[in-house]
Amino acid sequence: RRFRNALIVTFVVGGSVYGYKLYRSRQWYNEMRDSELTIGQKPRVVVLGTGWGAVPLLKHIDTSKYEVVCVSPRNYFLMTPLLPSVSVGTVETRTVIEPIRTLVGPRIKYIETECINVNPKEKIITCSADGTKEITVAASDRDKLPLEQNIEDNKEGGSSSRKIRDSARTRPKFDMKYDYLVVAIGSENNTFGIPGVEKHAHFLKEVLDARRIRSAISDAFESAMVPSQTDEEKKRLLHFVVVGGGPTGVEFAAELADYVREDLKRYFPRLVENDVKITLIEALDHVLSMMDKKISDYTEKHFHRENIEVLINTFVKGIKQREVIVQEKGSTELKSIPCAVVVWATGIKARPLTNKLRETIGTDKQNNRMGLLTDKYLRVKGVDDGTIYALGDCATIEQQKLLDRIQLLFEESDIHKRGALTLDEFRSLIENKINEYPQLEIFQKGIEKSFYEADKTKSGQITLEALRSVLEKADKKLRSLPATAQVATQEGRYVADLLNYMAHPTTTTTSERFKPFNYTHLGSLAYVGGDAAVIDFSGSKPLLDIFSLKPLSGRGSYYLWKSFYFTEQFTTRTKVLLAFDWLRSNIFGRDLSRY
Ligand code: FAD
Ligand code: NAI
Repeated sequence: RRFRNALIVTFVVGGSVYGYKLYRSRQWYNEMRDSELTIGQKPRVVVLGTGWGAVPLLKHIDTSKYEVVCVSPRNYFLMTPLLPSVSVGTVETRTVIEPIRTLVGPRIKYIETECINVNPKEKIITCSADGTKEITVAASDRDKLPLEQNIEDNKEGGSSSRKIRDSARTRPKFDMKYDYLVVAIGSENNTFGIPGVEKHAHFLKEVLDARRIRSAISDAFESAMVPSQTDEEKKRLLHFVVVGGGPTGVEFAAELADYVREDLKRYFPRLVENDVKITLIEALDHVLSMMDKKISDYTEKHFHRENIEVLINTFVKGIKQREVIVQEKGSTELKSIPCAVVVWATGIKARPLTNKLRETIGTDKQNNRMGLLTDKYLRVKGVDDGTIYALGDCATIEQQKLLDRIQLLFEESDIHKRGALTLDEFRSLIENKINEYPQLEIFQKGIEKSFYEADKTKSGQITLEALRSVLEKADKKLRSLPATAQVATQEGRYVADLLNYMAHPTTTTTSERFKPFNYTHLGSLAYVGGDAAVIDFSGSKPLLDIFSLKPLSGRGSYYLWKSFYFTEQFTTRTKVLLAFDWLRSNIFGRDLSRY
């Protein structure tokens, strides 16, 4: 009987799996046939990128209305929030990536290449030639680039920059026409031109960066174990320096401290006891400066407990092979910090293609921090026919100036006659504007801080003139949404809905009756190590429209952080892999091997 039951179960389970696979491949085949049959008959939407902005768009765009082509040099989606975990081996590489073809299916055509030029007049993009990729690698890792063949030195770029050429993969340059173009190409690391960064530091932006950091950590420990090492050299090798106290730097330092305490201590007890040091360097007076001050204070105290040294008000001026050069605020003296592994996380800047397109369409560079300036429908300003959209890290939405709006309110109130106003009056002015201007709340604390600074007499009120300069500074910040996955995802979904709406037969091609993009901030999360996380809800929608959520920190937040990123995983496959990775590193520890 048992045998018969087992046979039935096997038959039912096996049959269902087989049936599902058959159904999927049939569906796949139909989608592919439909998309091939209609080539040239529908307007073509070309999407540049396979990141947080592009993928929601590709998933939601109606391919019965558009022929959709995705162009990107990266043929997978990358779950960036888990990169710090990958860099220490808590999570494996394959868990944080998902092939774009699996994600979007055959209804969307994908071409693995880089767009190098956009011609808005002709509506043509040009894609790069010949399968040569230029990459930058940290000095210590040059010999370990395993994945490609025939690595050549790039003479112009100096020894830190190398060209990788694989002759079997040569690709001809090509042009492609579009009816609509969506630019979602993200951003690149900002080094501010500081000498030595490209050559000696590691970035943490792509999956290969995380693999290189993981290998460099292992390398540092194995090198320190060589018997002939001096004590001084061991300390240098095991001093890990993180530059930038933004969320990337904080999360990486936290993951590294966990790795040292939970795994490396077991295998290298003496080194961990005597020589390992983690230092986080931040130029401003606190870490996580975009979050609530309580969160910054909590993180700094928590890092102290986790043995992470935080150097605030310290600016990194240069990086050499064996040291980092720093300067403290208010001092002219340069100090040297000996170290071996440096992780550079000081923010982002626009990619060359973004700057080139801005130049082509003549957008004023002075007016925005970075990126392509768009209107509220995410259409790039300066492109008259409205056929180019930009979203994510490479875009900036134009807003009416806060200054102009508040000026109007002044003129209507008696504050104008008095010539000065108190903080409470200022708050109520801002609160009146929050509904129209959702980002305002995210920056409200920063604006209030500037208010205190501008109140030179400390009388609790400032003159309208001083307020004007506070608002001018705030305007610069407010003109761009934060460069986060949260923003990019909502924008990607919005452009898909907008394009679908425009293709509807009952409407004209104009989008004016469609609501402008409105960002909903859900709060910011960051992992700070030792099973603790921080959550800042400022700027998010209050609970039941009454209770504003307070900043959270500690173990409870850590579980929220974990469940959030678990549910954020795009597919069941990566969800399963992530659950296994967390279980594996908890039970067996992280994998120390260097590969
Ligand atoms: P990306 O996701 O970077 O995608 C850009 C795409 O464009 C890539 O596929 C790239 O290959 C492609 N591309 C580049 N150049 C070209 C070209 N010339 N032609 C065609 N395609 C091109 N945000 C959060 O909200 N929460 C977090 O917890 C969080 N954690 C982060 C952790 C780390 C370590 C990092 C680095 C970032 C994190 N972010 C987080 C920020 C978030 O990853 C970015 O804001 C988000 O990726 C922006 O999405 P995007 O689509 O604009 O760009
Ligand atoms: P960031 O711009 O948020 O922070 C960079 C920090 O480096 C700043 O605090 C700056 O003062 C400091 N800095 C700059 N130059 C310096 C120097 N020479 N010496 C010392 N310190 C210096 O950059 P980050 O952390 O790389 O993040 C990039 C983007 O990705 C941000 O928009 C961020 O919001 C997003 N992100 C969000 C995460 C989250 O929500 N959990 C996690 C990681 C990134």
